[in-house]
Amino acid sequence: MLGIKVKKQYAQKVKNYLSARTLLNNNYNVISSNYFIYFPIKTVNREELHILEKSFDATLVEKTFDKITSKKNYKEILKKQLGKDYEKAPRGFEVLGNIAIIDCERSISKGIASSIMSVNTNIKTVIRKAGAVKGRYRKREYEYVSGVKTYIVSYKENGALLRFDVRDTFFSTRLAYERKRISELSKKPENVIVMFAGVGPFAIELAMHNKNANVIAIEINKKATEYMKKNILLNKVKNVKAISGDVKRKAVIYKNFADRIIMPLPKDSISFLDTVCKVASKNCIVHYYAFVDMNMGLEKLINELKMYFHKKGFKFKVVFSRTVRPYSPEVIEIVLDFKITRK
Ligand SMILES: C[S@@+](CC[C@H](N)C(=O)[O-])C[C@H]1O[C@@H](n2cnc3c(N)ncnc32)[C@H](O)[C@@H]1O
Repeated sequence: MLGIKVKKQYAQKVKNYLSARTLLNNNYNVISSNYFIYFPIKTVNREELHILEKSFDATLVEKTFDKITSKKNYKEILKKQLGKDYEKAPRGFEVLGNIAIIDCERSISKGIASSIMSVNTNIKTVIRKAGAVKGRYRKREYEYVSGVKTYIVSYKENGALLRFDVRDTFFSTRLAYERKRISELSKKPENVIVMFAGVGPFAIELAMHNKNANVIAIEINKKATEYMKKNILLNKVKNVKAISGDVKRKAVIYKNFADRIIMPLPKDSISFLDTVCKVASKNCIVHYYAFVDMNMGLEKLINELKMYFHKKGFKFKVVFSRTVRPYSPEVIEIVLDFKITRK
């Protein structure tokens, strides 16, 4: 659903603005992360959005908000459950279908889980993040905390149903807005390559949105690719082909093919630029995800990319950029949309 994302320092002003115009959706919980607050909203018109963007640096996002019977209840139950440990509890949690994912110390996880489940009847399972995202497959370990013992989620995002085991693959709800944004950019008949496709969210959502797109989705993690194939069938999409293997080897079969390339591997997209040059059609839009040190800014990355593509015989033009999410106090994940044209 729609939400407004804003830096914490502007949260109160934005809340006042939204409340005064009855834009807030009070049936859902506000989400708080390290640096941002997300307000669930009913709707927003263009003029209101313009004011929010210009005055408060706020953005419109697609996000899963948690429906609650009573916001106060949750806090109160949590306080009762945790006592003096209440301050250690994270303010929010991620919801993937019937599963809530919490990020906290093991010692307080049971208390948090029972508070969540007592106010959210939809949540049947609570699991806990038990490590960082790591390795080539960008996976994370999880630990069962409470409820039905399962790690298989059925999660609906932007109209697509995605089913997978969270332990086997990377998945983040934080990219939901990006998937919607890119899907909506794809309108005409076009060839699309989704590199690092995971269980298929970018590929399936784009293909559902643009039935005239011909989508190739490549993923190296065999289990993730299997889930992607099942998700393609589940959503009855005919225009996505899931390929298992390394992008460097599998994409090159599609020489000069892609009018659009999606690269959601922020840790290492830069290593795959050579493949981009091989598979790009004459005019190609690239959606490039990267981690950027906030002190260095985007300029350095843009200059590096520009030099790289010029050397390879392409014109290079940035068409859009935005911050996707904070990654650490110093580092943010950004997306850069750029156009490359063969000279
Ligand atoms: C950050 S995840 C993104 C997954 C998915 N696109 C999403 O939005 O949920 C990166 C994915 O790239 C895959 N990957 C990493 N290196 C790869 C490579 N050389 N070729 C193909 N896939 C790769 C990982 O297994 C992982 O599933």
